[in-house]
Amino acid sequence: MEVERVQSIASQSKLANIIPSQFIRSEDEQPAATTLHGVVLEVPVIDLGGGDIDDKTRRLISEASSDWGIFQVVNHGIPDEVIAKLQRVGREFFELPEEEKELIAKTPDSGIQGYGTSLQKEVQAKKAWVDHLFHIIWPPAAINYNFWPQNPPSYREANEEYAEKLLEVSEKLMKWLSLGLGLEEGELKAAMGGEDVAYLMKINYYPPCPRPDLALGVVAHTDMSAITILVPNQVQGLQVFRDEHWYDVKYIPNALIVHIGDQIEILSNGKYKAVYHRSTVNKESTRMSWPVFVEPPQDFELGPIPKLVNQQNPPKYKTKKYKDYAYCKLNKIPQ
Ligand code: SIN
Ligand code: FE2
Repeated sequence: MEVERVQSIASQSKLANIIPSQFIRSEDEQPAATTLHGVVLEVPVIDLGGGDIDDKTRRLISEASSDWGIFQVVNHGIPDEVIAKLQRVGREFFELPEEEKELIAKTPDSGIQGYGTSLQKEVQAKKAWVDHLFHIIWPPAAINYNFWPQNPPSYREANEEYAEKLLEVSEKLMKWLSLGLGLEEGELKAAMGGEDVAYLMKINYYPPCPRPDLALGVVAHTDMSAITILVPNQVQGLQVFRDEHWYDVKYIPNALIVHIGDQIEILSNGKYKAVYHRSTVNKESTRMSWPVFVEPPQDFELGPIPKLVNQQNPPKYKTKKYKDYAYCKLNKIPQ
């Protein structure tokens, strides 16, 4: 089945200065009507000092995870050039002619990996102003290079370099988050699947949109991953829901944005909170973002960590396999 890409819809819409009605959100979702304008939300910004942090900084991380479910980290140890290269090769891929991108398109049985556009599942549902590419970047045994662009030729190297550096940051975050729960430093990672934890790269490509006041990029959601670590390009677009309002999250060049996902909320029995967020689009500029979902293995069971529950604090979530959690979430079946 041929899927029309948002990138191609965007180039047609640009000339007409209107967007197809499937992209026009209901009023309670439209960014113009629902965003608290003039305020840029300062989510906690945490300086990782190159990777060695003191107890105070560790406390900031666990407070941010409990109170906000999102924070930005600077001085995280990933060189600016590594991020710039990741972004360059990603942009170059999306700027290739459509036929070339279709070579690695998802097929009905290729699972989540590949180039794609979210399909409208229900008749009433609205479309999202975004195309994407998904591929696993870690562990090596789980990588399928068929879903990695061949072009530009440096795509693979750039992603491998980023993965290597990102892993160091993520391992540290898992340790600090574990200590923040009063656990040993390795316990949280073990409860997420240990060495089998997978790193799934997504690139979001949001072409310019003539009506950014009416359309949305990715609709409001919490991530079902354990944690998500994201770098955006310089175009504003990430929004977080807080105190009953949507706010833009301040863009900080080269910072990593860390989202607490559903699985860490579950493992921590609700101490850490998954953040509710969405993305908006821009009239003139292409926005891109590179979230990496740190995910448990599909068959791995997760529930509140036994040490964190007792009679006063009974389990707030069911224990289930990650793939069953994902199935319910994607099909909107109550967990
Ligand atoms: C997402 O949450 O899926 C996208 C966020 C972003 O593009 O900043
Ligand atoms: Fe997300």
